[in-house]
Amino acid sequence: MRFVIENFGCQMNDHDMEKMGSVLIDHGHVAGKDIDDADVVIVNTCCIREKAEQKFYSLMGRLQHLRRKKETILGVTGCIAQQEKENIFERLPFIDFSLGPSNIHLVAEAVEKAAAGRIRTSAFGDNGGSPSLVIRPHNTRRGIKGYVTIMKGCDNFCSYCVVPYVRGREESRKGTDVLAEIREMAERGIVEVTLLGQNVNSYNNGSDDLSFPELLCEIDAIPGISRLRFVTSHPKDISPDLIACFGTLKTLCESIHLPFQSGSDRILALMNRGYTSSEYLARVEALKEQCPGIAFTADCIVGFPGEDDEDFEATMRLMETVRFDGVFSFIYSARRSTAAALLPGRVPPAIAHERLSRFQKRQRVITLDSNRAMEGTRVEVLVEGQSKNSADELSGRTRTGKIVNFKGDPGLVYKLVEVDIIKGYANSLRGELPDTPGR
Ligand code: 5AD
Ligand code: SF4
Repeated sequence: MRFVIENFGCQMNDHDMEKMGSVLIDHGHVAGKDIDDADVVIVNTCCIREKAEQKFYSLMGRLQHLRRKKETILGVTGCIAQQEKENIFERLPFIDFSLGPSNIHLVAEAVEKAAAGRIRTSAFGDNGGSPSLVIRPHNTRRGIKGYVTIMKGCDNFCSYCVVPYVRGREESRKGTDVLAEIREMAERGIVEVTLLGQNVNSYNNGSDDLSFPELLCEIDAIPGISRLRFVTSHPKDISPDLIACFGTLKTLCESIHLPFQSGSDRILALMNRGYTSSEYLARVEALKEQCPGIAFTADCIVGFPGEDDEDFEATMRLMETVRFDGVFSFIYSARRSTAAALLPGRVPPAIAHERLSRFQKRQRVITLDSNRAMEGTRVEVLVEGQSKNSADELSGRTRTGKIVNFKGDPGLVYKLVEVDIIKGYANSLRGELPDTPGR
């Protein structure tokens, strides 16, 4: 059967989509591109913020029509499936299956049961030793970059966040298993690996298996891997050993995604984040000292319950101090089951929007400054493909994660090349190969 997976949400979800695709292909199904031509449509969902949930329900409206017209098999997977459990069949009675994130390994079985006679499948167990964690998407990985899940779940219970409820408790994969998968990826030509987990810094906490920094050291020694990244880190769990890895492990890229969420200590405490703004800044300083030139990106929430002007100014100050290369910023939305949903002091939407737009406007300027500061430097670029905008241009990323577009031979695709940066823009850099004639 021809299947299409529609995906919402984070890199973890991108990878889960890859894994489901791989399981389906292993069972003889074929990946399609267009929902209208598909026999099976699977929607992999996210419920971290209200917007993601709204987008999902509006897509389901469209799919309901398709189902009526073409009898398309429909499945829902991921965090909304987990959050709603069996209730999802009341809300969306036309779907054939619903699988939580720890149950996506059952996707082929669910499709086949639906095809055999509209037998409905649902699975929402937390699955200790989760089989979903160890699926290797061997036939859907393309190109030179790959994700590897090293742990799942989160035990932090930040007061605004639904993840601990829908992704369950932390569970790490065995070090030997992760290393074997990366070796296999390297053999197949993957040169950049991103380790995935809701909270990678607590990988193997409380176990005598490899610690996170030890895992990074082992990966660093795998022949063929040139770049290593990881998401997402929690500031409170950045250990001195991890900081020491930056600038010493040759593959570990000079960039880190370190969500700060707020610059106000009062709000950070209400968020249950487990650090103060000065502790956050101390970690940033330690990382900068160990690895000059390291690029910081982050997540931040504005309009958290009780956030007043002073709290928001503290967030603006923190952003000014760190000078992030980029920040994903969101307006707080109340999520079911979370502690913050019960907090008083709702920020009026107009004020929250105003704060978000002030924050984003300033961050855009800082990002542009940081991109311009790269003009005149020579950087290593991993060429990912031809540029979307121009056929004779290539596009790739620096080790710090910035997009670089430059003229070059398509033979350079998938190669590591040195590029001179000639211009910094808001979202990308323009480069030139050093030996370009006529410079
Ligand atoms: N409201 C707004 N943003 C949220 N995030 C998580 N939960 C919420 C929420 N309830 C943001 C955080 C997190 C990112 C993945 O999504 O900034 O780091
Ligand atoms: Fe959510 Fe906090 Fe866990 Fe991140 S660390 S997934 S924000 S609970």
